Amino acid sequence: MSFPQHRPRRLRQTPALRRLVAETRLHPAELILPAFIREGASEPIAIQSMPGVVQHTTGTLRRAAAEAAELGLGGIMLFGVPEERDAEGSAGLDPDGVLNAAIRAVREEVGDSLVVMSDVCLDEFTDHGHCGVLDADGRVDNDATLEVYGQMAVAQAEAGAHVLGPSGMMDGQVAAIRQALDAAGRQDVAVLAYAAKYASAFYGPFREAVDSQLTGDRRTYQMDAANRREAMLEVRLDLEEGADMVMVKPAMSYLDILADVAAMSPVPVAAYQISGEYAMVEAAAANGWIDRKASILESVLGIRRAGANMVLTYWAAEIAGWLRES
Ligand code: PBG
Repeated sequence: MSFPQHRPRRLRQTPALRRLVAETRLHPAELILPAFIREGASEPIAIQSMPGVVQHTTGTLRRAAAEAAELGLGGIMLFGVPEERDAEGSAGLDPDGVLNAAIRAVREEVGDSLVVMSDVCLDEFTDHGHCGVLDADGRVDNDATLEVYGQMAVAQAEAGAHVLGPSGMMDGQVAAIRQALDAAGRQDVAVLAYAAKYASAFYGPFREAVDSQLTGDRRTYQMDAANRREAMLEVRLDLEEGADMVMVKPAMSYLDILADVAAMSPVPVAAYQISGEYAMVEAAAANGWIDRKASILESVLGIRRAGANMVLTYWAAEIAGWLRES
């Protein structure tokens, strides 16, 4: 009888050994909590397809931000749900619009103890639900949208955002935002570019979260799930345009993209574990089909292992709580 020459199982024998040789660890500072605020809400409103996630009031958003800071999270990413929408998404430009007011409130609450990020995109603010303004034929008008993004970015910077997250996938959006910020004297505000963002069915629950008005899809601007090489082009362009950090989104079905981007990016790489990824785990766990906590930790660990320096996840606060306990 011959014995195996190599025995990798040796280092798996005890929890202490496994902890010693773990190649990837989770830390609260690399987690970013996405949060929704609904204009005019007097109490938080549950999002059915995202159990445990709500559309906040200003008061509950402030508390969530304070808790995030206290837990040592890396940041919070804010999305606004306005009361009124129009074709131009003008509520997104209004300094007192729901998102800009929320940025101001959160900054007042947390100061610089938490990185405050905000979504630069029109889909929450337009009555047609697209991420840009439309031309006379009803198509998303790339260059007209860039103008609006620039104005939105300055409004969010003035409201106090540390980092802006352009998520509309318009060509040239990072350059347009950088130029607008610099022209307004806001060289200090950073851009986290949604560089490789795919047209994904897994955004479904987010559409409920922001009461999206979209009919149709975003396939003329978001990327095709079939493409890997194209992600390198998108990331390279965003870097050339001045992105301070780049993002891959969604995360779990795009770990190959994330690994590619992590291998080539000279700037920090983020991944967004999106609403549908959250909903899948929650639904399976609610049915008793998977172990909720173990599945959540494994999913985020996998995203980190693939190369993300930071992860946007709706479980950010809960995970930070678990990490603190252990
Ligand atoms: C666009 C935006 C979306 C998400 C983040 N920013 C929706 C979309 O592109 O359709 C989705 C996030 C999620 O699903 O959790 N403003």
